[in-house]
Amino acid sequence: MTATGAATGSPAGDRRRPLRPIERLSGRQVNLLLAVSSTGVLVTGLVSWTVGTGWGRWFTALHGVLGVLLVVLAPAKIRRSVRPGLRRGRPERWLSVTLGILLLVTVGLGFASSSGLWTGVGTGASLWWHVLVAGLTVPLLLWHVGSRPVKPHRVDTDRRLVLGGLTAAGAAAATVGVTEVGIRAAGLAGADRRFTGSHEIASFNPSRLPRVSWLDDTAPAVTDAIDWTLTLDGVAMPIADLAARARPLVAVIDCTGGWWSEQRWDVVPLAELIDDGVLDGGGRSLAITSATGYARIFPRADADSTFLAVGYDGRPLLRGHGAPVRVVAPARRGPWWVKWVTSVEATSRPWWLQLPLPPT
Ligand code: HEM
Repeated sequence: MTATGAATGSPAGDRRRPLRPIERLSGRQVNLLLAVSSTGVLVTGLVSWTVGTGWGRWFTALHGVLGVLLVVLAPAKIRRSVRPGLRRGRPERWLSVTLGILLLVTVGLGFASSSGLWTGVGTGASLWWHVLVAGLTVPLLLWHVGSRPVKPHRVDTDRRLVLGGLTAAGAAAATVGVTEVGIRAAGLAGADRRFTGSHEIASFNPSRLPRVSWLDDTAPAVTDAIDWTLTLDGVAMPIADLAARARPLVAVIDCTGGWWSEQRWDVVPLAELIDDGVLDGGGRSLAITSATGYARIFPRADADSTFLAVGYDGRPLLRGHGAPVRVVAPARRGPWWVKWVTSVEATSRPWWLQLPLPPT
């Protein structure tokens, strides 16, 4: 049995069928391209989901192209492997079919999110389901590839691979581009999404700002400023003293739950607390801990762009938003905006020695 399956055709036929180079790919080449694009789509998805600064946008754009690339390659995969595989009738073929369906559902949910046809907060957002279903594909992908060990062969990386790969990638990029233009032309909510894929919600209206918490976090029962113990490098600081230093800052919170919101926060920069000797500026990082035990370690360099907030527009924070004191970190995604802060401490532990998204 051969997996090469090179199609031949006249130059005139090639002109009529611009996707011909994809049809000419061998089964092994299709699998190679699928392996690269599925690994790439997971990595770029994770980066675009966790990074809040400008360079993250390139990962998001690449993510869309790699996701659509899986769909562009799907007919070739069906022709070369799926049909023969189904005919062989092995019992575990249904696991592979499930994997294919889950990948298509993931792509559909990705488009539901990017177009804005289905927006929401946390579990009510298509993005959340997109990431969840994508996560389900990971063990199936590992099993699928692991149970079919293939030795790499030099013949796999011939001219056909380059032509077929470039044609498929071009078709995927064009699909994403046309979809993007379509979203704008149709005036869909996706036209206003941030480069992270998040949709706007409740800007300058804190009472409508979502009160989601990190996974299993629940708001402490008592969050009165007067009773709160905030320690900065081990020394207690009354919330009233912190509030006396606060000034307004307009900043966007961009949650990994698929939404962003702009508010006028009342904040104190960590850099100011360091300059005034309240916090040690010599440490490599700053560890910020919540009353719930949740914590993030910030690089020392973030002190200029990280703030402790005590309110919005002169009003105290609501309990669900981290009262009486929370982090505002405009250059970072939502999970860095620690709520119900009880301590800030200089530490020698490097900030990168922590999970990008804490499990609890
Ligand atoms: C099998 C895995 C995956 C596939 C096939 C896939 C595919 C897609 C597709 C086709 C889109 C729409 C892109 C566009 O309209 O430009 C999308 C959007 C998105 N995906 Fe994924 N994805 C996968 C996994 C993930 C994972 C694991 C994450 C995060 C951890 C993620 C995060 C995102 C984000 C943030 C968007 C929104 C981008 C935007 O609105 O422009 N994806 N995905």
